[in-house]
Amino acid sequence: MRVDVVFTPDEAGTAPTGIVIDVIRATSTICQALAAGYERVFCAAEVDEARALREGLGEGTLGGERDAVTIPGFDLGNSPREYVEPAGSTLILSTTNGTRAVVAAARRCKRVYVASLLNLAAVVAAAEETGDDVLVVCAGVQGALALDDAFVAGRIVELLGWERTDAAEGAARLVRTWGGAEEALRASKSGRNLMENAPHLEEDIAFCARESVLRVVPRLVGVHETAAEIAL
Ligand code: MLT
Repeated sequence: MRVDVVFTPDEAGTAPTGIVIDVIRATSTICQALAAGYERVFCAAEVDEARALREGLGEGTLGGERDAVTIPGFDLGNSPREYVEPAGSTLILSTTNGTRAVVAAARRCKRVYVASLLNLAAVVAAAEETGDDVLVVCAGVQGALALDDAFVAGRIVELLGWERTDAAEGAARLVRTWGGAEEALRASKSGRNLMENAPHLEEDIAFCARESVLRVVPRLVGVHETAAEIAL
């Protein structure tokens, strides 16, 4: 089996299994929300799409961020710590880079899993079970590589232990340049953005840096209008 990595959703690459990462913080939030009891998470790229979806569904908690803070009129932000108790069964989430990456992966991979450090071991085990090649899709930050996602991609590559493309080998080598996950997350553009725009949410970094504390494997179950529907 072979594992490849794209550091932004627009980079070329394909495989039957896509694993999407936006560790700070969208995919950490999705994993936490589903582990807490939300039954489904709709990932919408745009704020207006999220609002229209709630209107169409007639229900749902609206969550998400722009510039790291809660979107005006939304119920919740994008801090995974806001999702330790479910506010309902359906979450409709829109974030700057992460939900967009999930939608992009849904267009190019037969099967899509959502990964963070929180569910790392569970998602790696699920990928191993499929017996198919894997493409790790990093959300990055506005079209550019982000070190936090690259770190998690590297951990996935290490744990899979499969044949690697050069991009996958690069991600795995990056992992060893930091003392641990929290250091890597703090060093990244995503981590710096969070600390600059929402310093009161700095604790999210340590929260998202915990490895394999959730057994969930969120996966794509459908596409509703333009939103990707994720469930367990
Ligand atoms: C994103 O989608 O860009 C992130 O999740 C931003 C954040 O809320 O930290």
